[in-house]
Amino acid sequence: MTEIPEHLLKRSRERRAAIGQGGDQPTDEATAAGAPAAAVEKSASATPAAAPPPPSGPAARTAAAEPAAPKPPKPDPPYVVAAKQRRKVPFWAMATLSLMPVWGFLYIRALTDGGHTSAGPTAAGAEVYGNCASCHGGSGGGGVGYAFTDGEILKTFPKIEDQVRYVTYGTEQYNLAGVEVYGNPDREGGAHITGEKGVMPGFGGQLSAYEIVEVICHERYTLGGADPTSEEYAAEYEAWCSAEAPVFDAVESGELDLLALEEAEEFAVNGETVVVTPVGPAPIAGSAAAGE
Ligand code: HEC
Repeated sequence: MTEIPEHLLKRSRERRAAIGQGGDQPTDEATAAGAPAAAVEKSASATPAAAPPPPSGPAARTAAAEPAAPKPPKPDPPYVVAAKQRRKVPFWAMATLSLMPVWGFLYIRALTDGGHTSAGPTAAGAEVYGNCASCHGGSGGGGVGYAFTDGEILKTFPKIEDQVRYVTYGTEQYNLAGVEVYGNPDREGGAHITGEKGVMPGFGGQLSAYEIVEVICHERYTLGGADPTSEEYAAEYEAWCSAEAPVFDAVESGELDLLALEEAEEFAVNGETVVVTPVGPAPIAGSAAAGE
């Protein structure tokens, strides 16, 4: 605190006494006495502590003296109040949140790596199956269309090529071609007759050839329950549906056009020969179990 020079205080007291105000209110009159501005300011800030509260001056005077006191802090605007009251992010959540970019990175990688190249056509077929689930059930249990589960699909199509043909052309083309039995005519439980259960749309225009192979792998091995390690299905699986399936690769690259194929073609798979028969440019009758 800066001391107010005694001579100023004294002069002020004298002036006050002269105008009948009591000599104990030093501040205001210092100005009137012509003290330098700096001195006035200092005295103003120094007084509240030094001087006792103004006792008996007229009301107007007191009011006038008041503004010299430091202004009360401005109230915060509503948005600042809201920000102060808002709950802060707890520490444990920060730790979790800070891992979000890592999680995002792994998530994207998982999505982009999920293609048939790493997981094989059977896994990729699960996604294509989104086109079929509404009629055949999310897990192949059936609905408007037949069920694929419990080997049902394998009974209808012992040969995968017959299933490729059927899914490519659909009920309408089979009707147009006059093909009555689209699958195994000796099917256990009875042959499936074209149009008997309803209309199966042809997917040849909607899905690419390799997508049709993918979804068929999914129907046979994931939903239908064919065992890729069994004697019956190992060769087909390795040739068509495994991660390095050569038939699938040839279809995907466009090297092998199943619909345009005119003669059976042989593929060497793990030292075995797998024969791929033509699907054909139009529906033909289905066949019984391979080799028969
Ligand atoms: C609009 C409904 C519908 C959709 C969508 C549909 N299907 Fe079908 N599907 C049927 C019907 C109905 C049948 C039976 C047709 C018949 O009786 O001739 C059938 C039959 C089949 C069969 C023969 C099953 C058997 O055991 O006889 C296969 C295989 C098949 N669908 C595959 C597919 C695939 C693959 C997709 C998706 C790419 C698909 N379906 C989408 C209705 C549908």
